[in-house]
Amino acid sequence: MPKLETIITEEQIAKKVAELAERIRQDYQNAPIHLIAVLKGSAYFLADLSRKLGDDVTIDFVKVSSYGDAKTSSGTVQIVKDLDDSIEGKNVLIVEDIIDTGTTLNHLRELFQLRKPKSLRVVALLSKAQARRINTTVEYIGFEIPDHFVVGYGLDHAERYRNLPFIANLRD
Ligand code: IMP
Ligand code: MG
Repeated sequence: MPKLETIITEEQIAKKVAELAERIRQDYQNAPIHLIAVLKGSAYFLADLSRKLGDDVTIDFVKVSSYGDAKTSSGTVQIVKDLDDSIEGKNVLIVEDIIDTGTTLNHLRELFQLRKPKSLRVVALLSKAQARRINTTVEYIGFEIPDHFVVGYGLDHAERYRNLPFIANLRD
């Protein structure tokens, strides 16, 4: 049976999300921010972050091919569900649950840049710097974590554990 070991509590997440929102709002001043969450993992982070950002915020979703049931990245990225709205001229902020190898983010940055946003930045709640295979820019990072597989607060293993309010290491 897999064992869960909490590494970031619900309270620590809430505090960090509020801090990130404050930094982001300060950087953008009163400008509109168009949040793009990468499904499904970032849905929880998006919901909490967007509610802390105040006016003026819009949201959209993109879904890319995932790891399936495996715990390691396949290294290829495909768009499964594209954005609903044009991002031309918008201040786009990609909302990611976790940056692991950097493959997904690198691909999305390149794709979205072609669509001429006014600005393009990334906020990630978690980052595994040790696992990075592709150098990619992440303007806002919540927590740097070791290269262990984690679940909770949106992150899954074989679609389970997304609804955990905390983040935990999953050990076999
Ligand atoms: P990357 O393309 O390797 O950076 O992987 C990014 C995506 O892989 C994330 O958006 C997650 O969906 C998934 N992922 C990476 N590490 C983990 C993990 O530790 N637990 C659950 N999902 C992960
Ligand atoms: Mg995933």
